[in-house]
Amino acid sequence: MDKEVFLTAAKKFGTPLYLYDLKEIEKRFEMVENTLLGVNHKVFFAFKANSNPYLVDFLRALGLGADVVSLNEYKLALSVGFRTSEIVVNGNGKTTDELKTYAESKVGCINVDSLEEIRRFPNLSARIAIRINPNVDAKTHPHISTGLKKNKFGVDIQTASRMIRNLPSNLKLVGLHCHIGSQITNISPFMDAFRSLKDFIEEENLNLEFINIGGGWGIDYEHNGKGLNVRNYREKVVPMLRNFGVPVHLELGRFIIGPAGYLVTQVKEVKTTALKNFVVVDASMSDLIRPSLYNAYHHIKFLSNDSQIVADVVGRLCESGDILAKDRKISKPKTGDLGVVYDVGAYGYTMSSNYNLSLRPPEVAFDGEKLKLIRRRETLEDVVRLCKYPEN
Ligand SMILES: Cc1ncc(COP(=O)(O)O)c(C=O)c1O
Repeated sequence: MDKEVFLTAAKKFGTPLYLYDLKEIEKRFEMVENTLLGVNHKVFFAFKANSNPYLVDFLRALGLGADVVSLNEYKLALSVGFRTSEIVVNGNGKTTDELKTYAESKVGCINVDSLEEIRRFPNLSARIAIRINPNVDAKTHPHISTGLKKNKFGVDIQTASRMIRNLPSNLKLVGLHCHIGSQITNISPFMDAFRSLKDFIEEENLNLEFINIGGGWGIDYEHNGKGLNVRNYREKVVPMLRNFGVPVHLELGRFIIGPAGYLVTQVKEVKTTALKNFVVVDASMSDLIRPSLYNAYHHIKFLSNDSQIVADVVGRLCESGDILAKDRKISKPKTGDLGVVYDVGAYGYTMSSNYNLSLRPPEVAFDGEKLKLIRRRETLEDVVRLCKYPEN
């Protein structure tokens, strides 16, 4: 993205702000499609990564389906025009009422998370997949690892077997689902998981419409070429996918939209203590919690041409953990300069909060020519409106 775009966006909409490059989203989807060439497949976009209505509609128009994990994400998917058949529902602890809504509207597939969920399923017909937990270590951050026995998602193969044998007649088993974690950069956990799935299908002699292999493709946060190697994936994993012999569904979030998002922020102070340098910016953990929550690395660049310093880039919240980058070598900015935090398109805005009564930043899309405001900045009125109870 050109420096001028950041400067213009900041001038027009103020900082901090989220900026999305639509051309980059298209390019990344194309990369996924090329990687999977020769595999009968469908990609569903994981709304949890980014649920801006304009962006999910843009992805719908590109041909992706919707992967939702809550009734509200489901309603949003419908409201922007996804057909129910293009939606897959995930998540644990779904209530009977939620299951009823999904089943009544004939959603494409409900990924059932437990035996208990089957038991509380309303007596309505539905298309389901069972979420298998293959006990594979995705070798990613523990908070975004989901495929180990100790994780809360899915069921082990023995339980899946019991579920299949005792499936009520209103439920049609159309697929198996497996999502072992997010930000996976090594192909071997994928291969281990898909091998177990294939073995299970053969042992159970299942006749399925598709296999859903979840998401998890990792991106190159550190800009050192260590994201998921799609050439390697194509060479080693794609033959396994073909070998399933049925269409493959994917639920990708981060890989599609992560690198297309930028958080533009302004320097408010450059502070030097006896021990360290701090660059204090107007974005904070309330805008982007990943560094504080997962110790995640995000590349940061200041649009300044000064000498290099090593500094912590921090927000202005009353919390020591309010850090965007630690001990980072950066070009020394001055108050008023702009900084750009990279790769924030996924799990950025969707994980934002009002901590310290921070107001959520605006979201802006760039189509290569024009900037378009796709969510305005939150106001204090927006936030306190929820605290007014005229009926009391
Ligand atoms: C069930 C499921 N599917 C898909 C995704 C998307 O993962 P990613 O953004 O890593 O592609 C997630 C995220 O954790 C998930 O839990």
